[in-house]
Amino acid sequence: MKSLSEKVIMITGSTDGLGRLVAQRLAAKGATLLLHGRRQDKGMSTLDELCRLTGNEKLHYYNADLSSLDEVRGLGENIIADHKTLHVLINNAGIGGGPRGNSKRELSKDGLELRFAVNYLSHFLLTYKLLPLLRTSAPSRIVNVSSIGQYPLDFKNLMLEKKYESFRAYRQSKLAQIMFTIDLAEELRGTGVTANCLHPATLMNTKMVEEFFGSTITSVVDGADALEYVALSDETANYTGVYFDMKRPSKPNAQAYDEDARRQLRELSLRLTGLTANA
Ligand SMILES: NC(=O)c1ccc[n+]([C@@H]2O[C@H](COP(=O)([O-])OP(=O)(O)OC[C@H]3O[C@@H](n4cnc5c(N)ncnc54)[C@H](OP(=O)(O)O)[C@@H]3O)[C@@H](O)[C@H]2O)c1
Repeated sequence: MKSLSEKVIMITGSTDGLGRLVAQRLAAKGATLLLHGRRQDKGMSTLDELCRLTGNEKLHYYNADLSSLDEVRGLGENIIADHKTLHVLINNAGIGGGPRGNSKRELSKDGLELRFAVNYLSHFLLTYKLLPLLRTSAPSRIVNVSSIGQYPLDFKNLMLEKKYESFRAYRQSKLAQIMFTIDLAEELRGTGVTANCLHPATLMNTKMVEEFFGSTITSVVDGADALEYVALSDETANYTGVYFDMKRPSKPNAQAYDEDARRQLRELSLRLTGLTANA
């Protein structure tokens, strides 16, 4: 088993909240980290600050707005060009319900419902772009940061053109991540690459929660403990296809077990991202 200082770990959305705290912890333990954000200035100041706080010089920053599939493709290609190994991919970046009371439907750069695009589809594409690296680096792990907030996907209204509600959009994107995790784990069985997902903690003190709920319940420390446990601990090394409620293997919304729903989501995602069926 490799020590943390021998591991290369990518965390999307590591400029704030949960991703940033986990990045700081792993940097302090000596990992090579691929940080990611959507704003170059914030990304570079995060990189500088984490280097200064931890003394770790093996930190790299990648900029890509996940609301653009072209930028996601570029992100994957840049990482493949720069690194020969990747042991852990943490798909963490996300947007919540947005400001309370804002019911305006938002679209990604590709014209897709924004939360579906950023929280789920971008990570679907990024994972497949990075899969060759994860496979050759096995044992390796993929962790999708989902949520206990889940809402069944309605394939007749997936882009929420009717009855738009931002928190529903958030919750369906989080269930889509879980459905993806289950399929991916099955596809990767026997390769040494595992895929799991988790609800990190409820209403942590991060900006997405403060913006939508106005108050918080737990600390980002709780979520960071759970995420580190699922992504890196020896105890979870042989788990795959599992949804964790914090550190506890748990059951997601029933639609996650619906093979036909997962097939529809997968086919649509392959089409929307331009990946082929055997991506
Ligand atoms: N907070 C909770 O209680 C809670 C509960 C369950 C699940 N989660 C999940 O935990 C994950 C982290 O959330 P958080 O609470 O830490 O939120 P956060 O503090 O708002 O951080 C979100 C991160 O994602 C980045 N991001 C947002 N939109 C992006 C885009 N279009 N392209 C690239 N990066 C983008 C943000 O960049 P900027 O720094 O530029 O904004 C930031 O780095 C999310 O997947 C969320 O769904 C959170």
